[in-house]
Amino acid sequence: MKMQARALFTAASVMLLGILPATAQTAPKPLMAEDVFSNVQELKGIPVNQFMETMGFFSAALGYNCTNCHGEEVQGNWAKYADDFPVKNTAVRMIRIVNSINKNLFGGAQAVTCYTCHRGTPVPKVVPSLVEQYTAPPADDPNEVQLSARAPKIPTAEDILNRYLEAVGGEKKVAALTSYAATGHYDGFDSYHGQVPANLYAKVTGERGLVAHTTNGDSVTNYDGHNAWIMGPDRPISVLQLVPGGDFDGVLMDSALAFPGRLKSSLTDLRSGFPATKIDNRLMNVVQGMIGGSRVKLFFDKETGLLTRMFRYSKTIVGSVPVQVDFSDYREVAGVKLPFKWLNTWTDGQSTYQWDEMKPNVAIDPASYGKPVPPEHPVIKQLR
Ligand code: HEC
Ligand code: HEC
Repeated sequence: MKMQARALFTAASVMLLGILPATAQTAPKPLMAEDVFSNVQELKGIPVNQFMETMGFFSAALGYNCTNCHGEEVQGNWAKYADDFPVKNTAVRMIRIVNSINKNLFGGAQAVTCYTCHRGTPVPKVVPSLVEQYTAPPADDPNEVQLSARAPKIPTAEDILNRYLEAVGGEKKVAALTSYAATGHYDGFDSYHGQVPANLYAKVTGERGLVAHTTNGDSVTNYDGHNAWIMGPDRPISVLQLVPGGDFDGVLMDSALAFPGRLKSSLTDLRSGFPATKIDNRLMNVVQGMIGGSRVKLFFDKETGLLTRMFRYSKTIVGSVPVQVDFSDYREVAGVKLPFKWLNTWTDGQSTYQWDEMKPNVAIDPASYGKPVPPEHPVIKQLR
């Protein structure tokens, strides 16, 4: 449900494109929520993209779809999101309450968020559940594993990352891979969970272009080594330049992961020393690091040394949004093992990239990772 609602942006992106100031298309000055949306009372002074992430956070925290807070009329009508709607008004009040709790009781730390009370439901529980108390607790979430003073510091983060370099083919082969162009498929909410063609372009110097050709138009995430943009038919703004922070850090991370040799140098504050952690019943070595302003956990298979999962938090003013990518189907590309399957899991849904072919060491057209060019005649297709 949540995912379907996001496809509503299709019409909106086209509409909003017309009203954007011309400078916003080229100038790196970040577009703030209040520059684009007409009825923002509390979530001001944050970039548009972070604003959209807060909507994802609210949806996840309450187990809600966009229409639960904004009404059915927003379907196909972007402007309706600005309307005052009873549930949305409650949410505005809740934002104020949470801000005052954190300010008055926790010295301004983000100690309480919507999720603290709501836990994925609209009406928080008040009575402790005997069922919960007397049945086995759910399995530990490996993403929540914390550094522990008691856990062994060996292997070190350095050891684990070196082992990974060995596992994918060794330093020499890794250094010889300088670019690749991949073709494959994508499926997610914006492809109505059907398979659509996808392309990936990557250079060892950091540039990276990713595109899924959905039936409503191309969904693009590009990074030219300095600037990052997202473009898609389901976005509030057709082409949005990302500003440093959550999603921009995500792009930096994806770029670092594209070449195993770049991983170590892209992360700072590397740590190991986590308790034994399993994913799908396999033991993991966990490395934590920072990229930009975001904390990242990397889970490496203890046996194979390969990277199984990347987990990071995207910080917003209402709470951190978790983002997870699972890597599998490692195949050799010019002697370097790269994952051909990526499963992305986040608050707005799950999506998959499955690559069929990666052509190593090819010339990459700068247009494939530069600022995306919106289609002249966008296809507008409603979900229902
Ligand atoms: C829990 C309730 C809740 C959910 C769920 C929710 N929103 Fe919102 N939304 C709000 C609130 C509250 C505001 C106003 C924030 C403010 O005033 O600072 C808002 C504002 C907006 C705006 C700005 C409208 C304008 O022009 O002023 C947009 C766009 C928006 N939401 C989109 C979405 C989308 C898309 C989703 C689903 C992914 C979503 N929202 C889910 C509560 C919600
Ligand atoms: C301190 C606990 C607490 C926190 C934190 C909290 N809420 Fe609530 N919220 C409640 C309670 C309790 C209710 C139910 C009130 C009732 O209907 O009895 C509620 C109800 C709501 C409702 C109405 C649901 C419906 O459909 O009627 C919305 C929307 C909502 N909260 C949004 C939020 C958002 C957004 C945040 C974070 C900014 C948040 N809440 C944080 C306690 C909390």
